[in-house]
Amino acid sequence: MCGIVGYIGHRKASDIILSGLEKLEYRGYDSCGICFLDDLSHDFVMYKDKGRVRHLIDDFDYSMSNHLGIGHTRWATHGKPNQINSHPHFSWNQRFALVHNGVIENYKELIAKYLPNADFVSETDTEVIATLIEHFSNTLSVEEAIRKTLSLIEGSYALLILDTQHPEFIYAAKNKSPLLIGVGEKGVTLASDVMALVGNADKYMPIEDKTFTVVEKTEDSYQYRLCDIIGSPVEESFMEMNIVLEEIGKAGYSHYMLKEICEQPSVVRKIISKYMNDDVFSIDPKALSIVQNAKRIYIIAAGTSMHAGYVGKYYFENIAKVPAEVFIASEFAYNMPLLVENCAFVFISQSGETADLRACLVNVKALGYPTLTITNVPTSTLAREADAFLEIFAGPEIAVASTKAYVGQVAILLVVAYVMAKKKPFDLHHELSRVAVAMEAIIDKREYVHSLVGEKLTKRNCFYIGRGLDYYTCLEAALKLKEISYIQTEGFAAGELKHGTIALIEDGVPVIAIISQHAINNNTRANIREVHSRGAEVLVISLNNVSELTDEIVLMDVHESLSPMVTVIPTQLISFYSALDLGKDIDKPRNLAKSVTVE
Ligand code: AGP
Ligand code: GLU
Repeated sequence: MCGIVGYIGHRKASDIILSGLEKLEYRGYDSCGICFLDDLSHDFVMYKDKGRVRHLIDDFDYSMSNHLGIGHTRWATHGKPNQINSHPHFSWNQRFALVHNGVIENYKELIAKYLPNADFVSETDTEVIATLIEHFSNTLSVEEAIRKTLSLIEGSYALLILDTQHPEFIYAAKNKSPLLIGVGEKGVTLASDVMALVGNADKYMPIEDKTFTVVEKTEDSYQYRLCDIIGSPVEESFMEMNIVLEEIGKAGYSHYMLKEICEQPSVVRKIISKYMNDDVFSIDPKALSIVQNAKRIYIIAAGTSMHAGYVGKYYFENIAKVPAEVFIASEFAYNMPLLVENCAFVFISQSGETADLRACLVNVKALGYPTLTITNVPTSTLAREADAFLEIFAGPEIAVASTKAYVGQVAILLVVAYVMAKKKPFDLHHELSRVAVAMEAIIDKREYVHSLVGEKLTKRNCFYIGRGLDYYTCLEAALKLKEISYIQTEGFAAGELKHGTIALIEDGVPVIAIISQHAINNNTRANIREVHSRGAEVLVISLNNVSELTDEIVLMDVHESLSPMVTVIPTQLISFYSALDLGKDIDKPRNLAKSVTVE
């Protein structure tokens, strides 16, 4: 959700910041802005407005030379998305300029106590931080004024701050919202996401909460310093930059989402190669001991990751034989159920930054429970703060609608349950390899899926129905269609339809049924007949060995337990092509953010 980028060094700061903001676009935002130091006039120059980074890039005056600046993509929490509320924000007397990701919870109290007479230009909570720093800098040094402000503000923040009186510095601080520092030969980049560091840094490090960072441009170089809120140095733990620019491009595809759908067979193969050694699957021993010693596993996640969690519950119970429960993170955080003794928590998150999950992680850690995170981003907050983490290895996922990370999460949950299982129910290497082949087969037929979507899904609301594992896929399929095509869609347990929702079925309502399991084939077929006889336009997705001649999409057979990784592919394609036909902004759907860093 939203993003920040700052740069000091010997390259043109505005180039790095603007291209960094573009790389962060996938996180979701509504406004953007940049502030940099003009080398010639020594003035800070600011551009900001509602809308896309592309407008900022098109309107930018590239003649100005500059080596230091900060930029922002905003996802409005306080005040409408408009030019005035866009970041950067100046302090009252324009001494400080800053960008902020997050929410300051006590900004009203701070105004009342310290700034009762201040005149604010915007409606944001952010402007209060800038003006507080200015207020304290009347009597304190700039670093002390910032640290004093940090000691007072409550909530989440990643901040980059410029001072007109010390224009060779960028000051940075964070709490709960992500912020990384990247160091390269030519300069230092600060950003909320590793994507914006790619190409600018040789090594990088996620900054810990309540860490205060000072970066200074010197005559022929730069230097940086990380300290805590009191000013004592904190330990540095840099990592090599291992993402290359090609990994975050579209590689010739029209959209990131289509590219990511097509990458799924490789994700499955990569997971096999990462988690299998000498023909044996294994996971990090610490992660294994967390789940193996648990009498019950609580899975905490949101959105698509939660749907992967439902499939994970099936794997824990049916393969590892350990009871598991799935919880919506935002509910669990403030409405914790009665927990059993000797339980463990598994957090599932593509981004590893979802604030709802982090609130749960903090709570359960405080209660002393063991925690494991399954994530695509090994440097993320949830990966660092859990007792152990397992990486999905899906590669950077840029489209807001998650596809390859979902499949990766399901595959990792399967690997974990399989490693835990005393009795191995099948040859996992063989079965996962078949999944990759079955995925390829349907991806190759994607234009056929496009032709089926046609008029059908572009008109009205829609239903996905299925039972058991297929029901979980229906939940995910419905979310995906809603997210990017804005068609109202419900994922429904096929047998539950007749208990009320069937009232919504009338002539022409699209109902997509998923059937991958022998045990429920007849029952779901009966439910298909029920909706068909009430006028629904039915489309059936089935595995070959449970298929009927009239089924529209028949998938290659895979082991029934692994079918969610295959049945989900045509549903992703249905979402993609529906949104394409409707002319929607597929990779950046309205109102959504890739990384949801507010609760
Ligand atoms: C997926 O398509 C969605 N954009 C969304 O539901 C997402 O899965 C959810 O916000 C959780 O994100 P996370 O996996 O990064 O924690
Ligand atoms: N709370 C701030 C605002 O509404 C920052 C939002 C963001 O994280 O982009 O401007």
